[in-house]
This record gives sequence, structure tokens and C-alpha cells, in this order.
Amino acid sequence: MCPPRCPRRSILPPRRRHRPPSAAGALDELVGKRIVFVAGKGGTGKTTVAAAIALLAAKTGKQVLGVEVEPKGDLAGALGSSGASFKPALAQANVSVLALHPEESFHEYLNTFFKVPRLARATPLAKVFDFIATAVPGPRDMLVVGKVAFEERRRDDKGRPAWDLIVVDCSASGHVLAQLNAARSMMQLVRGGMIRSQVEWIDQVISDARRTALVLTALPEEMPVVETVELHDQIVKQRGVRVVACVLNRMIRAPVPPASRRLLAQLTTGDAEVRARVPGIGSIGADLELSERLHRTAEAQAQRLRSGIAVPVIEVPLLATRTGLATTRAVASSLTEQTAAVSP
Ligand SMILES: Nc1ncnc2c1ncn2[C@@H]1O[C@H](COP(=O)(O)OP(=O)(O)O)[C@@H](O)[C@H]1O
Ligand SMILES: [Mg+2]
Repeated sequence: MCPPRCPRRSILPPRRRHRPPSAAGALDELVGKRIVFVAGKGGTGKTTVAAAIALLAAKTGKQVLGVEVEPKGDLAGALGSSGASFKPALAQANVSVLALHPEESFHEYLNTFFKVPRLARATPLAKVFDFIATAVPGPRDMLVVGKVAFEERRRDDKGRPAWDLIVVDCSASGHVLAQLNAARSMMQLVRGGMIRSQVEWIDQVISDARRTALVLTALPEEMPVVETVELHDQIVKQRGVRVVACVLNRMIRAPVPPASRRLLAQLTTGDAEVRARVPGIGSIGADLELSERLHRTAEAQAQRLRSGIAVPVIEVPLLATRTGLATTRAVASSLTEQTAAVSP
């Protein structure tokens, strides 16, 4: 006798019943914040989306600081500039980029809060500091959120905020939770004194929903969707930073409708002269069918994502642009289109 068959289980989480919130206005909400973290799995478009949000905010006249957390992030490249350092450098009109290197952030932190001069770098104690800053994960994460909170508080000579908006291109999803939660974790270790109050202040900045928001990035594929839903749930559970939207990047657009596809295939392949002049034209029908199938698969994943997370999902199509600023600009205009309020 055959053993009873187990029903095939999907690795996707069960669907939740809620109406997916509209993406209209989500971009305005993001651009109206003081700090926006962009987080997601590597390759989902974090850097491009962070750069696009920075460009869009800058277009409204805001002074924007883009923060690059990972050395290979290349936020500067996505903004058409070559490389970033610890000192903010202008990449586009109204957009500066800063690369957060733990060692330098640590020295700045020591200098700002404890008045330890940079000269201390030469001492053996500095070696311990460097070790803590670069090798031990907790303090390193602390430096990232600490520096971001510090930049948020920075004022110019006239007492105005140095930056209207800070956009952070976060670490890959495996690490971002620890990074966002760094100040809270530290609070459990430090019970009182100056460090405790600094850490409390940093946590307040990060978890203040009026000031700070997080955007997730995902791709319309099974594993990235599963991971995005998990990451969203974990961030919500931490009750720290507020997730405002999810950008579903590289969506496959629907090709022309089936009747048009058939007609197009007939028109282009029926004529011997056309076939002779356009090599490969014979496969146009199959190519269009394939893009339809890819579109359907992507659409099913988009549905999964929408029903798995309670935040607006903003779709950005797969673009045929070259990488760098051209992609960033195209993603920025797509974000604008997708989030424009639908007129009554
Ligand atoms: N919608 C898109 N269409 C086509 N290419 C894209 C799109 N979004 C991003 N890219 C490109 O995909 C690559 C990965 O994007 P990136 O933003 O660096 O991802 P991540 O920071 O998540 O690793 C880059 O070369 C980028 O230019
Ligand atoms: Mg990146």
C-alpha cells in the first residue's frame, strides 16, 4: 500500500487577509521625513532606490545627505559621482554622499562626546578602539545609527538643520536588523551615565515615526518575496523604525494582449521579405509568449508580497538602462508615477 501523500507545502508564508494599502502618497511621506533607511536583500535595488529617493527630495529643494554603509555599496556611483569618503561630498545638486567607515565614525564619536583627540590614534589604546570599531559587530552597528542620528541633529551657523533629509543605503538584509536595533541592544548593557543617555537619544531618533522611516526593496521572485515578508515582520516585531513602503523592483511589464501578440507574430513572419531582412524575426511569437509567462510569474509574486505585508508596494519595472545615474533617474521617475495620487 502506498504511504499517504503529504500535500505539497509552499515555502511561502500563509496569506493574510488585509486590503493592500495604496501606494499613492507613499513617496511624499518618505520625502517628508528626516531619515529614510532603505533595506533589503542584496541585488534588489537598495542602492538605486536610495539614490532615487535622494534625487527626488533634492528636486524639491531639500538638502539631502546619502549615507553609504557598505564599502561596495556605491551610492555615489548611483548618483553619478565617483566614490565617497567620510566627509560629505556633493554628488548632484543638493545631494551629498558620505561613506560610513566604522573606524572614522568611531574617532569622530570619541572626539565629539568624550573629547578624545585624533592624536590618540597613535596610542596603543587606539588599537583597542579600532578593534572595537571594526571587528566587533555591536559597536560597529552602533556607530552607523549614531552617526546618522548625529547628522540629523547637525545644525548650520543659523541654527537650521544641515540636512533636510538623510537617506541611508543599509547593509544587506541579514545584518540590517542588528544595525537598526543597535542602540536598543546597547541600552541593555549600559545602565546609566553619559553613554546611556547618548544611546537612548539615538534610539529615540531611529524609532520616532514622525522623523524616521524605512523602505524595503524586493524582487518579484519567490525567495526574495519570502525574505522580504520575513524581514518586514521582524522589523515590525522590534517596534523600532516604521516601515512606510516596499519597492518591488524589476517588475516584468505585461506585453501586448494575446490577440495583438498573435497578429504581430503573423504580420512579421508572414512576409518572406521581412523574414529575409530581419534575422531572428521568426521567434517573435515565442518571445512574446515568454514575456507573458514571466509577467504572470512576477505578478503572482507581487500578489504574495502585497498580501504578506501591510505597507504599500510600489512597483518599479525592469528597465533597459545602463547602470549608474541613468538607472537611478529612470527608477526615480517610475517611483513618482507609481505613487502619484489617482485623481478623482
Ligand atoms: N528597475 C531596474 N531595472 C534595471 N536595472 C536595475 C533596476 N534597479 C536597479 N538596477 C540595476 O541593478 C543592479 C543592482 O542594483 P543595486 O541598486 O546596486 O542593488 P543593491 O544595492 O540592492 O545590491 C545595478 O546595476 C542597478 O543599476
Ligand atoms: Mg547596494
